[in-house]
Order: sequence, then C-alpha cells, then structure tokens
Amino acid sequence: MGLAENQVSFDILEEYLEQHSEATSWGKTKSAGFRENALFQDYHGLPSFRKAMASFMEQIRGGRAKFDYNRIVLTAGATAANELLTFIIADPGDALLVPTPYYPGFDRDLRWRTGVNIVPIHCDSSNNFQVTPEALEAAYCKAQAMNIRVRGVLITNPSNPLGATINRKVLEEIMDFVSRKNIHLVSDEIYSGSVFSPEDFTSIAEVLEARNFKDAERVHIVYSLSKDLGLPGFRVGTIYSYNDKVVTTARRMSSFTLISSQTQHLLASMLSNENFTANYIKTNRERLRKRYDMIINGLRKAGIECLKGNGGLFCWMNLSPFLDEPTKESELALWNSIVHEVKLNISPGSSCHCSEPGWFRVCFANMSEMTLEIALKRLNNFMEQRNFKERDHSLSE
Ligand SMILES: Cc1ncc(COP(=O)(O)O)c(C=O)c1O
Repeated sequence: MGLAENQVSFDILEEYLEQHSEATSWGKTKSAGFRENALFQDYHGLPSFRKAMASFMEQIRGGRAKFDYNRIVLTAGATAANELLTFIIADPGDALLVPTPYYPGFDRDLRWRTGVNIVPIHCDSSNNFQVTPEALEAAYCKAQAMNIRVRGVLITNPSNPLGATINRKVLEEIMDFVSRKNIHLVSDEIYSGSVFSPEDFTSIAEVLEARNFKDAERVHIVYSLSKDLGLPGFRVGTIYSYNDKVVTTARRMSSFTLISSQTQHLLASMLSNENFTANYIKTNRERLRKRYDMIINGLRKAGIECLKGNGGLFCWMNLSPFLDEPTKESELALWNSIVHEVKLNISPGSSCHCSEPGWFRVCFANMSEMTLEIALKRLNNFMEQRNFKERDHSLSE
C-alpha cells in the first residue's frame, strides 16, 4: 500500500492490444516499418506520438485547454522531466519552493544531480493543506534569509500524497506570486487523468488561457503516462512549456532520457484512437472512484477519517488522534506497529515532509479489490485491539 501504481484498468489496455495488432507490429514496408524505427531517431520524437500526447492531454482536461504538439518535449517519465526542468531554470545552490506534504521522489529528482535546494512551503490541515499566499511568502523569506536565490515554485496538481486537486483560486494566487517575484512555475500534473470527476480539476493551462497567456513563458507543465495509463515501466513523460527557450533547451537535453521509438510507435497508435481514449479515461476514473469510496468507507468503519480527496491513487489518512504524542517519533512508532503487526506498508507523512504528525498515505489502486478488503479488515482489527488496550488501561487506572 506504499506504491502509487494504477493496475485497475489493465484489462482495457490489453483488450486494445489484442484487437489492434498494428500497434505492436511493423508491417512489411521498409519505409514506415521496422527498419525506419530501428534506426537512429532524432530527439524530437515521432510527430505522430507527440500529436497523440497533446490530444490526450486535451481530452483529460475536457477540451478546456489546448496543447500545441510542437511544444511537447518527450522524456523518460516525469522523473526525468522534473529533473530536466530544474537543470534549466535553476543553478546549483538556488532553490525551488515546494508545498508540503510532497512526493518524496522530489528530494532525489530536483536536488541530487542539479545541486538545487528545496525550500518547503508549509501547508496544514487547518485549510485542507491548500497553499496560502502567506505560506508562499514565508517560504520565500526563509530562502532569502538563508541567502538562497529562489528560481521557482513546483506544485503537484492533483497532489501526491493528498489525493486532492488544487482549487482555481489557489492556482490564481500562485500565478500572481510567481509573476510578482519574477520566478518560474512548474505544475506536475501527472495525476490529471485520475481525478474522479473531470470538472474537479483545473489545469494551470486553463488559468493561463483565461489570462490570455499573460506571463505564460514562466509556466511549465509536467505530465507522464505512468499513473493515468498505469505504465511506469514504459518510461513515458513530457514537458510542456510555454517558453520557447525552455522548449529548445529541454529538447536538446532530452537526448539523455529519450523514449524508445518502439514504445512511441505503440502509444501513438493507442492514443490517437479517440474512441479508445474516451472510454479508457471515463472507465478508469469510475474504477478509481469506486476504490476510493471503498477505502474511505472501510477506514471510517474502523474509526479512521481521511482528508476529502477527489483524485489520484491514494488517500491521506489521519491517524493523529491515535498517536501517543504529537511528534514525528510517535508517528514512526505507529508506522512500525502497522508494518510489523498488521503487515501493511503505508507511507508516514514525515516521509513526505508533512509538518503535522499523524498523517499517512494509503495507496489503493495497485491490488485487487479482494486484497484491499483484507487490508481494511486487518486495519479494523488493529484499531479494535488498540481500543481494547486503551479501555483496559483506563479501567485499571
Ligand atoms: C508527483 C509525481 N511526480 C513524478 C513522479 C514520477 O513519475 P514517472 O514514473 O513518470 O517518472 C511520481 C511518481 O510517483 C509522482 O507521484
């Protein structure tokens, strides 16, 4: 339950592949077939694939945003896209501001090879962990006090680990902030197609369109097929930048993390079939929502509440009432009990730099419904035992 993988819609992908052998075969002609794809590819990627990616991204956003396929830069997953953008917009020693809690992989992707720092924008449960102008300003001032130059803000919408979208007003405030400070905004929208109801999601692309693309050159969107299509092994990601220089530089640097032409060929065929994509997106959303409802209701029965979510492959569970003390140490002690006694691996909030102890991320889309039911049952038993222990303890006092 610690892995944000989506396995709920594999059957739809498999059915497509069974019915469309052209996606995985090459045909006999020398020109458009195997030989042409096997030879050295230029780093722009297959135009047919970039077009298919752009229209898939539009479809996920219900057609409310438009993407020009000439601005799509292909990368080996969102991991490479986030690192590449960091290399481009910041120098070693500079900082990006990132709202907490955040995906722990950012500590590696944004920092390790770039030498860039992450300065956290602290968010808390008082407003459902949404970013505020005050929190943005506080993080900026903290960086300044440490003599660190801030080059941008990186948001994840919908958020991993919160499983919730960023609302439009907050996006507007973040946009105003980056304009005022003259810095970049990276919006990692890797879970955009996994929002249960499409109208719950506002892409930063829609905010820009509403502003007539004023200040758009400081905005860059990251996307990947690892979550929405459940294909992390294929390593397919993209940078969509409104900044010509960033597009050119990212494309050159993408030579280090290209996507195999074989993978592009398969996915170009799949994603350019609009009947397939429309059905996939709709069914995948419904299945994820069903899983979400199942886990939320199961946890509620066990006396556990979660943050109200509306997308993603996980829920953000609040075990703070059950900590011995409101500390990171108590959170990790509880995590340890859940690993060893309940035999479930869920991620403690402190691994996502959450500033409030007691929150945990629980993934629900990488297992069968039956396994999920067993996990919920075990958590229920664990909570009952704890309640008994507490009652016995208070009776003996
Ligand atoms: C917010 C976020 N960004 C990026 C990634 C990395 O994705 P990819 O497999 O496309 O590299 C993940 C994976 O969990 C993620 O949650």
